[in-house]
Amino acid sequence: MRKPFIAGNWKMNKTIAETRDLILKMSATLREIKTVEKVLCPPFMSLMSASALLEDSGIGLGAQNMHWEEKGAFTGEISPVMVKELCDYVILGHSERRAFFGETDEIVNRKLIAAQTFDLTPIVCVGETLEQYESKQTREVVSRQTSNGLRNISPEFAAHIVVAYEPVWAIGTGKASTGEAANVVIKDFIRPAIAGSYGEQTAQAIRVLYGGSVTGSNAAEFFAQPDIDGALVGGASLKVDDFVAIIRSAVK
Ligand code: 13P
Repeated sequence: MRKPFIAGNWKMNKTIAETRDLILKMSATLREIKTVEKVLCPPFMSLMSASALLEDSGIGLGAQNMHWEEKGAFTGEISPVMVKELCDYVILGHSERRAFFGETDEIVNRKLIAAQTFDLTPIVCVGETLEQYESKQTREVVSRQTSNGLRNISPEFAAHIVVAYEPVWAIGTGKASTGEAANVVIKDFIRPAIAGSYGEQTAQAIRVLYGGSVTGSNAAEFFAQPDIDGALVGGASLKVDDFVAIIRSAVK
């Protein structure tokens, strides 16, 4: 049995004061829902105050990115050791990092290995662009991102990672995929790619999320699918009612 998993990726939104405000508005309701693993990923600057507010709440805290080196001359970067001081989770390889900051599968893999070293649960993002989708390359792109991103980790760690299938054309567009189509990608492309490296048992143990224009209104359609274990939510995670509705829909 895979426990449902919902993460809110706030992206580059909310100041420290606004983070505090949003967490205070949603944490009481969220902490009551215990059968879903819940994670908030505010910007780096807000992690410190978020971590104080979320202490003993049963709501996890994640960073949106990190560097793979422990320390050193990498101006502007945040190391896994620093992330681990406040967080238990980290989003890796988000499509916006790939598109705007040149992250490759190799870079994502280095970060994943660092997550293993520093005991962080990674949420590894994969997904095809609109162009790739239209030219029917979804299988090829998603399988490659999954197998290359997930190289060289231990089988034990592999079983604990979280993968998020986020078709780029569905992110922030209001044009979500359908539950059925997303389930096909996860069942036929993502889990087999994991099975190819770590075996069928691990492929079945890993939680795989859907992300891309998930809202309180469409979330249930995704969670009804057998291979979708939750969601990585962008815009709707900044709206209390919507985010609470999404988490409620994930309760089995
Ligand atoms: P939206 O939910 O805003 O489409 O964003 C999805 C996403 O990128 C989460 O990581």
